[in-house]
Amino acid sequence: NLQEVLDRVMEISDLNELQEEKSRLTGKQGLITSLMKKLKEIPPEERREYGKTVNEYKNFIEEALNRRKSELENKAKKEREASERLDYTIPGKKRDIGSLHLITQIMEEVQSIWVSMGFEVTVGPEIETSYYNFEALNTPEWHPARDMQDTFYLQDGRLLRTHTSPVQIRTMESRKPPLAIFAPGTCYRKDTPDATHLPMFHQFEILFVDKGVSVSHLKGSLDHFAKRLFGEDRKIRLRPSFFPFTEPSFEVDVSCGICGGVGCRSCGGSGWLEILGAGMVHPNVFRNVGYDPEVWSGFAAGTGLERIAMLKYDLEDIRDLLRNDRRFLRGYRRAV
Ligand code: PHE
Repeated sequence: NLQEVLDRVMEISDLNELQEEKSRLTGKQGLITSLMKKLKEIPPEERREYGKTVNEYKNFIEEALNRRKSELENKAKKEREASERLDYTIPGKKRDIGSLHLITQIMEEVQSIWVSMGFEVTVGPEIETSYYNFEALNTPEWHPARDMQDTFYLQDGRLLRTHTSPVQIRTMESRKPPLAIFAPGTCYRKDTPDATHLPMFHQFEILFVDKGVSVSHLKGSLDHFAKRLFGEDRKIRLRPSFFPFTEPSFEVDVSCGICGGVGCRSCGGSGWLEILGAGMVHPNVFRNVGYDPEVWSGFAAGTGLERIAMLKYDLEDIRDLLRNDRRFLRGYRRAV
């Protein structure tokens, strides 16, 4: 029955199957061929009619096969196109790019300010002797400042430096004045971590030695530094303080960027934020390195970079800097 054959062809859903069906119908061993072979059994007067019919069958079947073939090919093509189509509205995959840690960034920024003023980058060891960390800095054993700084001691009696001030001594020992140095570095103190303390932190040290250096040089340099780092609208002030290696000594404040010095919650109502310790180099320190304090004078300053970063970026907890929470770090990403 021709109709059944045609229906079957039109239901084939697979190109391979269609190919198989094609050879079953029109191939050398196929249906049409076997019908043609029967021609000789047909009485001569009916042959013409028979042949015509078989030929028509053949044409119908071939037409159906071809039609189905192009239908299936079209369908396959459409499916392929659908699966390959580019959807330009799908959000792109973000590639994670590394960046410098916030502390490194601020270190570089602070450093570039001092370098631009002519200060030279100098470094010293993190493992120090008590002499460089304390004695040479006019801080003898019995001095109360040594209790203030809880020190990590090594078994051989050396220690992890509690500040970058020993770099002052090492530099002056090995050079002749005048000099202007910027000394960044890691420091350690036996502090229990909390929102404002870490046992490992970073400082930078400023030392300027020349003839006739006065507090106004100190103040002018720090004022320029604070304005460059925090903004032109900021002011600084010096408050009397104490460090064994400077005399006089100061605590240096910068005016609060939120209230402009009037007093707000951010600055605890005072209008000022403490940014540095500083002072004029103590004559005993000069004597310890063989500089004549009657000839040479100088100023020094130092502070924690974490403190500076917290003030500049209004951070609440110093420990956030070490948690490696990428949501936090990402917020301070700068193109490298
Ligand atoms: N070394 C001091 C500190 O760690 C800071 C300081 C440096 C003060 C230089 C005066 C001069 O607190």
